[in-house]
Amino acid sequence: MIGVFDSGLGGLTVVRRLRERLPNADIIFLADQKNVPYGDRSNEELASLLESHVGWLDEQNVDAIVMGCNTSCAIADSFGWPKARAEIFDLLDAATVAVQRAHARRIGVVATAATVRSGAYGRRISNAVHDAEVWEVAAPALVPLVEAGKIDAPETRDAVATACAQLPPDLDAVVLGCTHYPILDRHFAAVLGENVLRIDPALVQSGRAAERLLQDGSVDESGRTTYVTNGEVQRFRENIITLMREADPHVVGIHKESVV
Ligand code: DGL
Repeated sequence: MIGVFDSGLGGLTVVRRLRERLPNADIIFLADQKNVPYGDRSNEELASLLESHVGWLDEQNVDAIVMGCNTSCAIADSFGWPKARAEIFDLLDAATVAVQRAHARRIGVVATAATVRSGAYGRRISNAVHDAEVWEVAAPALVPLVEAGKIDAPETRDAVATACAQLPPDLDAVVLGCTHYPILDRHFAAVLGENVLRIDPALVQSGRAAERLLQDGSVDESGRTTYVTNGEVQRFRENIITLMREADPHVVGIHKESVV
């Protein structure tokens, strides 16, 4: 079984990529909606949430943890990963590989305020691509809009345009550096135009995880996805039906304590 966690609905974009690669794997997705949005939280809070959720997934006996949250990966980049039995697949590593594969040099990163504050994306990409120029911009309005289900609202389209307006022209690629943003990909596409490659790190990340897990033979299971939230179960369920196009998803509510 594969474990995924995020603050909320963004992790579904990672689950979707994994499902494309591994139709028979069992997946457990934890959405920490009690604490969403992560992007506005302190480093200490984020480190504590990361440790708690990695520990919880480990307790579910997962074979791998495929990170559904860039903000948590950025925190781990600065403060280290918590100890885990399961191997962890990082989104920042995956994004860096995607940038290298695309031969991109002028790179924009749109992410949460906490991710941008960490500078982790800039560090990772510059270490891997020595002549890279990286611009990181925060888009704090986007996660609450996605969580509220306002995917197609004019205010959401405007918020994407406002974030992208902070980027310089003539970029080769823009990393969607928060897993909520691929849900808004059509708005990014409209604003950035067809000459700018949009990178969803989950694409490379799911490929790497699938390769490893298929080698280990640990993913020939029932193909079931369990969606767990510590927030509002009914609304979570409705969002999953819409975003994952599953008629009757297996949704579980838990009372996972807020650790902050
Ligand atoms: N989806 C998460 C990320 O990839 C966290 C967003 C948030 O809660 O602010 O960064």
